[in-house]
Amino acid sequence: MALHLDLTGLFSPSDGEGLTREAFLQALPAAEQARADHWAAKPAWQELPGQHRHLENCQARARQVRESHPLEAFAVLGIGGSGLGASALLHALSPVYQEWRPQKGDPKCFVLDSVDPDWLGEWLESVPLDKLHVNVVSKSGGTIETSAQFLLVYDAVRKAVGSDEEARKRFTLTTDNKAGHFRKLADEVGFETLEVPDGVGGRFSVLSPVGLFPAVMAGMDAQSLLEGAARVDANLAQASAEEDPALAYALAHVLWTRRGHNVHVHFPYSHRLRLLADWYQQLWAESLGKRLAKDGSVVHTGATPVKAVGPTDQHSQVQLYVEGPNDKVFTMLKLRRFGRRLEVPPPFAESAAFQPLLGRTLDELMEAERQGTEVALQQAGRPLCVLELCQLDAFHVGQYFMFMEVATAYAGGLMGIDPYDQPGVEAGKKAALALMNCPGFENLAGKIREQLQSQSRITLSC
Ligand code: PA5
Repeated sequence: MALHLDLTGLFSPSDGEGLTREAFLQALPAAEQARADHWAAKPAWQELPGQHRHLENCQARARQVRESHPLEAFAVLGIGGSGLGASALLHALSPVYQEWRPQKGDPKCFVLDSVDPDWLGEWLESVPLDKLHVNVVSKSGGTIETSAQFLLVYDAVRKAVGSDEEARKRFTLTTDNKAGHFRKLADEVGFETLEVPDGVGGRFSVLSPVGLFPAVMAGMDAQSLLEGAARVDANLAQASAEEDPALAYALAHVLWTRRGHNVHVHFPYSHRLRLLADWYQQLWAESLGKRLAKDGSVVHTGATPVKAVGPTDQHSQVQLYVEGPNDKVFTMLKLRRFGRRLEVPPPFAESAAFQPLLGRTLDELMEAERQGTEVALQQAGRPLCVLELCQLDAFHVGQYFMFMEVATAYAGGLMGIDPYDQPGVEAGKKAALALMNCPGFENLAGKIREQLQSQSRITLSC
């Protein structure tokens, strides 16, 4: 039932450029302070697994939705932390990805996290708009992509169902309880809402209604998701610094980054877990990539998170990983047990090429591939760790979310930066609003246009 971290491959046998066990242990006492600071100011997102009212609200709203209109499709409109958690959950825990084959009675599920007109337009033409429920997710209520999607989808649904009253039933807005455009709209027009709790930022919100409502709508065991997260939270709280796997993970990554290994590869060996790596990328990048330290000094710190999926990317990226620059740290995500045992069947048994497969199972093959890659990376002196989930279910995915969130928070503390702000993202959001002529952003729009015009373009065509 436990989440298991194998750190063996993170330590170099001797000094030199690498990280030895001794150097890690020497750094541990200083890391204890970052850990103590984290627990002393336990953040709001870490309380989520114990706050049952959020799940109850999501379940109540889901029941209301099913009673109030026909339901064949469910779409999340949200971007960044407002969409990635739902995508990761749907890919990990839906029967065969919900988009293709939902369980009986559950809707097909989509996460729409772009305003690409080709993609969105085609989707709108293909989905049964009168049997659709839409969950608009935006903590700030001011993200222009989500606003654009909302207007487009609302208008299409309204036309399909014939009235605003009918259309409103088909929308649930997940947003801040007090502030933002969507809150205002919901209060004025009468949309049903779910809450993004105070102090919970987008990338730490998967265990709030942001992830829970899509999970409930898709028929997942959201209670177990929270229980898994609560288990990790409780175990980490009780552990000593030496026994805290999230601290070990954070510290080893920070120390390797200081040694020039500033590409961090998340490498799930489970196709279902592949979008957990997308969720991790945002968590690690947006939380730890910062210009300023907490003391105001300019640090331009952070590591670049990269996604690789086993065994698929053995035939794509692993050549680079084994023989290219030694500037990475790898996290292999492993399932101790797959849900199915598929034995390779006997046709063409006489063919020599198929001999090694006969009587073997696909889970054996997956693990052989993973171990083979682990050994190849280690032989090439590449640091890696293995994070093992017992099995693929909501409980263990919940464990993973909490583990990575705590590790990210610890890493922020060790690096002396604020893992909870995102000034770089906000700057881009404001620039987009300005370029769309949003009132209040006239000065910024002028400056951006001036900058764009002052640059002499260098272009080539063929
Ligand atoms: O993690 C974050 O804070 C961001 O990625 C946000 O989730 C993203 O920008 C969307 O913001 P909002 O939920 O306010 O629409």
